Amino acid sequence: MQITFDPSHPATLPVDALVVPVGATGDDAVATSPLLRELDAGLDGALSGLLTDARFSGSAGRPLVVATLGRLPARRLIITGIGAAADHESLRLGYAAAASVAREAGARTIALALPAEEATGPAATAAIEASCLALYRFTTYFGTAHRGPDAADPDTITVADTTLDPTAGQAAIDRAAAIVTATTLARDLVNEPANVLDPAAVAVRAAQVAEASGLEFTEIGVTQLEEMGAGAILAVGRGSRSEPRLIHLIYRPPAEIASGRRIGLVGKTITFDTGGYSIKTGEGMLDMKIDMAGGAAVLGTMSALSSLRCPHEVHGVICAAENMISGDAFRPGDILTAMNGVTIEVLSTDAEGRLVLADGMVYTARQGVEELIDLATLTGAAVVALGNTTAAVFSTDDALWQRVAAAGQATGEDLWRMPLTPALNEQIRGDVGDIKNTGGRPGGAISAALFLERFREGLPWAHLDIAGPAFGKTARGYLPKGATGFGVRTLLEYLSADRG
Ligand code: BES
Ligand code: MN
Ligand code: ZN
Repeated sequence: MQITFDPSHPATLPVDALVVPVGATGDDAVATSPLLRELDAGLDGALSGLLTDARFSGSAGRPLVVATLGRLPARRLIITGIGAAADHESLRLGYAAAASVAREAGARTIALALPAEEATGPAATAAIEASCLALYRFTTYFGTAHRGPDAADPDTITVADTTLDPTAGQAAIDRAAAIVTATTLARDLVNEPANVLDPAAVAVRAAQVAEASGLEFTEIGVTQLEEMGAGAILAVGRGSRSEPRLIHLIYRPPAEIASGRRIGLVGKTITFDTGGYSIKTGEGMLDMKIDMAGGAAVLGTMSALSSLRCPHEVHGVICAAENMISGDAFRPGDILTAMNGVTIEVLSTDAEGRLVLADGMVYTARQGVEELIDLATLTGAAVVALGNTTAAVFSTDDALWQRVAAAGQATGEDLWRMPLTPALNEQIRGDVGDIKNTGGRPGGAISAALFLERFREGLPWAHLDIAGPAFGKTARGYLPKGATGFGVRTLLEYLSADRG
């Protein structure tokens, strides 16, 4: 799919589909949009009536498709509601709905007009980002002979605008393309099944990303983990034939843009979570290939830092292991010693994410970073608390939370701050070791976060429990069914916009 900027007037382009964003309802739509007025004139005024008949509402969701039958350069118009307010999330939803409709209609060339009231770079970024993210599908394992043909993807998507400076337009589109590529990478990794993507395979993919994106790459295998005393991640990975490992990527900004800040990202990357000997039910295990969404978001983010000219030094650490059962697997009752010497009583082998993160966080903190952000599909309790669309965020630092929250707000990824309730530390106090790896059902997402807090090594820290939003049972807006890539866009906004 080629993504381009064209400084021509959108109405002049001979494309299969021209997407026209509209913020007003049917009766006002043509009157308030200069572009629609012009297109309406080309169709002898038929558009106004069609919009009224369709009870076209300016809110995002149900685009109207109009065949132009040779009267206009574009073969079809796709008129899509974007809401009345200049809110980028409703813009995204409007363009996302239009892109899906365009593909379904068979369009191979698509032009996007920008809203007249906001023909800006950020609006162009939002339009491309949402259109491309909405068209995502995971097709690696489809044999066409057995499925029949799906609608083909468009060949080109062009933003057309005469008012936007072409250099700014091109830059906005390049930014969108980098964000889409990074999110797509994260989605693909999460959708990939566990028989294909085990910890060894994650390392291979990470090395390829590092090579392609100019990142430093280090893999810390079992021998080195033993030397470092990383007893927690080693225990989780011991039951799998694919060995556990920490994968460390470093992005260093070019000197002329360097801020001097150093940030650590840590991602839970359990390529499959059976629960171990605290085994999950068949149903509970069903989607557990997604238990690497935190690490996938970190890898996706790292892949785009150079294109987005991130000014900070960023360390991305992927804590990769597979939580399996074997004669060698760890057990409930085992006592582990993490890299910082904290001893952990294993109450449940199914609370494995906090164990791999414990060592991953200590390792990352020791790289000299100034703050830590971890992402993890950590607890079912976070899903119970906030549902499937919102991430639970815990932070020891108000300013860090506020910067992350602003990035989430700008990208449309929904974040909600949760408390690190000190009283719940009682629930994870150890009987025979320093801490237990589960604190029981009450406040399960909170006690998991309190566990992780023991491993932040005194650094300002934010923890994003993405168990809910990492994966969708149905498609929604520009999020497909399956892996969403949640976290990538927030992290990229956090690291590459001037928020820090
Ligand atoms: N990977 C799961 C959490 C999860 C659940 C992610 C549902 C996505 C969807 C995690 O490792 C886990 O099993 N957590 C346990 C913790 C419990 C044993 C304290 C849980 O949430 O039940
Ligand atoms: Mn688990
Ligand atoms: Zn897990």
